[in-house]
Amino acid sequence: MRPWLVGWAAFPTAVGIIVATFAVAKVTDFWLLFVVGFPSALVVATFGAVRGIGGLMEARRLGLALGPLAWIATILATLCNSALLAFGFFVALMTTLGFGRGRQIRRAGRILLPPVKDGASWTSPALDPHVDEAVRADLAAQWRENGRTEHASVAAFARLTLDLMSLGAPPRLVAAAQRDALDEIRHAELCFALARALDGRAASPAPWDEVASARTLSRIRTLALARLAVESLVDGALHEGVSARIIAQLARRCEDEAIARMLREIAADEGRHSAHGFEVTAWCLAQGGAPVAQALRGALRAIPDVMHSSLPAASHDGAWERHGIPGRALESDEYAKARTHVVRRVEQLIAGVAA
Ligand SMILES: [Fe+2]
Ligand SMILES: [Fe+2]
Repeated sequence: MRPWLVGWAAFPTAVGIIVATFAVAKVTDFWLLFVVGFPSALVVATFGAVRGIGGLMEARRLGLALGPLAWIATILATLCNSALLAFGFFVALMTTLGFGRGRQIRRAGRILLPPVKDGASWTSPALDPHVDEAVRADLAAQWRENGRTEHASVAAFARLTLDLMSLGAPPRLVAAAQRDALDEIRHAELCFALARALDGRAASPAPWDEVASARTLSRIRTLALARLAVESLVDGALHEGVSARIIAQLARRCEDEAIARMLREIAADEGRHSAHGFEVTAWCLAQGGAPVAQALRGALRAIPDVMHSSLPAASHDGAWERHGIPGRALESDEYAKARTHVVRRVEQLIAGVAA
């Protein structure tokens, strides 16, 4: 087959691999399939591009007509445009593989969480919840799990601070990221303290090697801005917003005043974190312009209609909501409201920016 024909055939093949991977992942709910599917598509596309360029060089060597340069420039611009759309779609997809109560540290989409060991360093203040003996052990396990995601959020905001500084963000955004990290330290302490109060075990986050090798942004400024914009949209504005809504509802349904007070405090903080996520997205858009808007358009297509959380089966019917753990119906209702709100705001944000 002629090299340029291979080049043209590779592009739809690569797109086909991504579409097929997405379809299989959606049916089987096995989203880590993208770790194989996306690189495979990239290899096919790269192979096609190399053969296509080879074809053009061969045509030039043989003195064949290449067509007007403007025509080629238009094709290149279209390809770049499509690539940014796909980039935003992919980053959003990887960011929605798991839901973890707000900003998280991820690797290939998988949320990284700290290990836990015996120790009382993260278990203050002392709490005294009034909870039935029969559910104390299971609730303690879930609150300890919540504590791990809150602890991971501290690292995620530290990462955000570095990202913002590397891109030259203004002090108000850097300060917000720093304040949000302090909030997450308090949330982690409250969660581990409540777990201890429920089952009597003093356990805290252990040394966490994995976090030191968490991802950094691309050195290409446009790609870095696009990635931070999409991550702040999904993990910041959306996931922090969903957390704020769910926890605010739980504070109303909770029977124990000590837990309800703690939930009100966390809900108010998560609401602010969501607003900060929007501010980071808006700043990245203002800095990056049309390419970032294009990545955000791709991201909007990847945000799932339903939320994938991993709560224990005993909580699914809402029986634990009086103890501060949501049921499935509350989660999906609040996710749908937050999703609608976030999508509308981002559409307004990018409406004035050319595709
Ligand atoms: Fe939090
Ligand atoms: Fe948060």
